[in-house]
Amino acid sequence: MKNLTKIGLLSLTTLAVIGCGDTYSSKDSGSTNSLKSLDRTVKFLTDTDGMSLYTFDKDGLNKSNCDAECQKVWPLFIGADTTNDNIKILEGTDHLAYRKHPLYYFVNDKTIGDVKGDNIKNVWHLLYAPTGSNDSQTEFSAETMTQTYLTDKDGRALYTFDKDNNGTSNCYGTCEDTWPVYYIPSVVTAPTGLNKVDFSTISRDVNRSKEGILKQTAYKGSPLYYFTPDAKKSGETKGDWVKGVWHLVEISAKKTSEVKPSLYTAEAVEKGKAIFTSPSKCSRCHGVDGQTKPLGVDNIIARYGDAELITKKLKDMRDNGNPNNRDGAMVAVASGLSDEAIINLSAFVATLKK
Ligand code: HEC
Repeated sequence: MKNLTKIGLLSLTTLAVIGCGDTYSSKDSGSTNSLKSLDRTVKFLTDTDGMSLYTFDKDGLNKSNCDAECQKVWPLFIGADTTNDNIKILEGTDHLAYRKHPLYYFVNDKTIGDVKGDNIKNVWHLLYAPTGSNDSQTEFSAETMTQTYLTDKDGRALYTFDKDNNGTSNCYGTCEDTWPVYYIPSVVTAPTGLNKVDFSTISRDVNRSKEGILKQTAYKGSPLYYFTPDAKKSGETKGDWVKGVWHLVEISAKKTSEVKPSLYTAEAVEKGKAIFTSPSKCSRCHGVDGQTKPLGVDNIIARYGDAELITKKLKDMRDNGNPNNRDGAMVAVASGLSDEAIINLSAFVATLKK
């Protein structure tokens, strides 16, 4: 999955199972054809001085594709070979790799804890690794990150395999026992941060695959798998980085201190519903299900489905004097809303069936 997302490893830090962003985005969450996300707390790989190290999605296994020009921005992490299998030099060089993935610094990281290179052009990533596998040349950050990764509808982690090709699986036989194929006929709900259209169905080799397992769901062309040792419950990510070639699908990663708790809680939805449906309020123009054209204007609000977007619209109308030339009746309604009411209403409106 080199061209996808970050590679990450189970940290020994506790897994933080915090709700995911998709909870209110659609009525379909929880159905068979939905995917979800979970958060976990991770540490990232650094050199022994604490400077962040990165991997490059365009590299091959044990092969750097960062040329001299590239190295001006991404200096190589160099050193001598080690006895630890996690950190080895690329043959004939002094360029160190973590489980076959070449490592780099980022030129704009100036001090310990800087992670400015993370996700640059979507191909440079921090590397999350188990804190148990430090060796003499690497350490793990003192700071933690909150990483959001892709799961099935029940919160079971999904993985990609570096040895797969775009749209083709190379996992057959005993590999399939350890890495069961993930398949749903179509993706109706994708977690916030991923796009439904990036999921597809690939065909598996009839002659090599387990009986009846002929289809597989792929993300950006990379087939998706479960890992057998992950219990069939949410929050386990034991398969990440196995043999250096199995990876979680990362959706995002932020320093834990920067993660804001979601405002759009289940409680907010309930409060928003009460306001929305009270007789003198919103439902008299929008209908209780948000499906009515308000005062005949073709702006059915159930279709927005995104709480942040709805908050932005309501605040815009309230604070900015009708920037988008909205119907005056609605602008008048918005002008009387408190911040809290806007959050609650947005949380509720985002749950309406599109
Ligand atoms: C008097 C009728 C009326 C009431 C009451 C009303 N709306 Fe509206 N609302 C409208 C109209 C008309 C529009 C379409 C505005 C346009 O597109 O110009 C609209 C549009 C909207 C939009 C979309 C705005 C955009 O930028 O596209 C949102 C969100 C919205 N209403 C939420 C609410 C909420 C929440 C309430 C209750 C607090 C509410 N409305 C009460 C008439 C009303």
